[in-house]
Amino acid sequence: MTDPIDGFDIENPELPKAIKKRAMASGGYPYDDKLDRDSYEARMYALQKQLVTLQAHLAASGERIMIVFEGRDAAGKGGTIKRYLENLNPRYSIIAALPKPNDRERTQWYFQRYVDWMPAATETVLFDRSWYNRAGVEKVMGFCTPKQTEHFLEEAPEFEKRITKDGIHLFKFWLSIGREMQLKRFHDRRHDPLKVWKLSPIDLEALTRWSDYTEARDAMIERTHTEHAPWTVVRTNDKRRGRITLIQSVLHRLDYAGKDTEAIGEIDASICFDGPNFLS
Ligand code: ADP
Ligand code: AMP
Ligand code: MLT
Repeated sequence: MTDPIDGFDIENPELPKAIKKRAMASGGYPYDDKLDRDSYEARMYALQKQLVTLQAHLAASGERIMIVFEGRDAAGKGGTIKRYLENLNPRYSIIAALPKPNDRERTQWYFQRYVDWMPAATETVLFDRSWYNRAGVEKVMGFCTPKQTEHFLEEAPEFEKRITKDGIHLFKFWLSIGREMQLKRFHDRRHDPLKVWKLSPIDLEALTRWSDYTEARDAMIERTHTEHAPWTVVRTNDKRRGRITLIQSVLHRLDYAGKDTEAIGEIDASICFDGPNFLS
């Protein structure tokens, strides 16, 4: 099934006014404007200090963290990861952004290449996309069979149980944007020489498969939201509020020496949901 996009031509340097106007509110986003810069920077600074405190705790305790970032193209995964890492030691905080599997990897156990990237003592690994490709992009783009997706949806909770039972802190985030915001960001990427590398042929394909992705996302959250590895949905039409909320969500759920609940601040419940609450 394909979704028509009226009046949108990514090659046209002029973005239709209607799309620009609707972008922030798209998908029912509750704010009209992004968070002002001063508030954003003040709150981000407080969170960065807590992340540095957490890093010291991890160094002392050897605890391990895995954070999965999922979401439609241009949802803001890369930018959020960048802010999370901004003041951390790159030796212990690592990005895992795996390319498409090669011929050999294609014949392995599906989870195998992700296992290679799991954290050792003290490490935090941020997955910019993850094994959930099999429930999302691979399913929607036809890179795997329906049977493989079905098998994946059965196996993912088991795989994650092994991870959490070993004591790794595992977080799973779905970053959610509205349709006009996705169009606007694709358009920005196409016409900004510093961002054009972020736009892939897959993204352009995805333009017309919005509802296929919606369906795939709902099935994924429904089948793989578990007590040991729950999904958290963060709405990211405003990148600033999105980044703050995601980092707050990680910090609140960890116990660490020097944790300051007040400095982390209250989570904005209008843009942050437990997986199943987002669906219903
Ligand atoms: P990104 O948006 O992560 O920068 P792309 O939009 O190009 O990258 O691709 C989206 C995801 O689809 C990536 O995780 C990529 O590895 C995966 N992918 C692309 N082509 C294939 C393929 N033929 N088989 C399986 N996965 C693929
Ligand atoms: P969809 O078309 O289903 O992908 O939804 C578009 C947007 O609507 C999402 O990106 C969310 O921002 C928002 N949305 C969908 N379902 C919910 C929900 N249950 N609660 C809050 N926001 C939602
Ligand atoms: C994002 O912005 O969500 C990702 O970092 C890049 C992409 O998937 O297009």
